[in-house]
Amino acid sequence: MYESYWGLTEKPFENTPNPKFFYTSAQHEEALTRLLYGVREHKGAVMLTGVFGCGKTLLSQVLFNELDKDVYRIALISNPMMSSLELLRAVATRLGAADLPTKRTEILKDVVLDAIGNLLMGNYSDGKQTVILFDEMHVVTDKDIFEDLRMLLNFQLQDRFLCTLILMGQPELNKQINLNKQFDQRIAIRYHVDHFNAAETQGYIAHRMTVAGGGGETENL
Ligand SMILES: Nc1ncnc2c1ncn2[C@@H]1O[C@H](COP(=O)(O)OP(=O)(O)OP(=O)(O)O)[C@@H](O)[C@H]1O
Ligand SMILES: [Mg+2]
Repeated sequence: MYESYWGLTEKPFENTPNPKFFYTSAQHEEALTRLLYGVREHKGAVMLTGVFGCGKTLLSQVLFNELDKDVYRIALISNPMMSSLELLRAVATRLGAADLPTKRTEILKDVVLDAIGNLLMGNYSDGKQTVILFDEMHVVTDKDIFEDLRMLLNFQLQDRFLCTLILMGQPELNKQINLNKQFDQRIAIRYHVDHFNAAETQGYIAHRMTVAGGGGETENL
């Protein structure tokens, strides 16, 4: 197999977001810094956009690993392609709601929002900060969903939000956000990750080859 030819111990370019291979280009470092700042400073909402494959999902994993689980409770919604009610329900479930009604007809948005509010307050009382990370948000076109996210930001104390929302998605996400001005203005931190330039591409290839056990030389590639 090609691993032995190149002197590697594993495949360097598997198409999965494995934090072990994270290459901290200047823009990835900046993205991670802003995400961490938003979380640590209790900002309401943080948004990361970037073209497909630029490493957003990988950054979400790296961020997850960086956050101390004694301090942060993190709910990850990796596929938000669902109705607004289902999405809220998914948030509640990821935050640990155990007693939500299961029959569709019995589930009301207010009930789910109440449950989320209680969970956020419970986390706060336990000295934990809640982070809700929504990946692949560019697939969401339902305006109600952005309105619901705004409702989540209404859970706040006098001086801080009870949760930090992190939205990640391809650049089309900007269009959807622009349609909800009230939510838009609550996004405290934004960053856009662009394509790698030539030097970053070379650094990226060398880095992945090194992590996979190779020497990292790219002259012959
Ligand atoms: N900075 C990086 N370091 C290491 N690998 C990276 C980096 N950026 C992207 N990759 C790799 O590229 C591939 C695609 O990354 P990822 O799935 O995170 O992209 P994405 O921005 O979430 O894409 P999409 O918009 O399609 O969801 C993965 O294999 C990932 O590991
Ligand atoms: Mg992704």
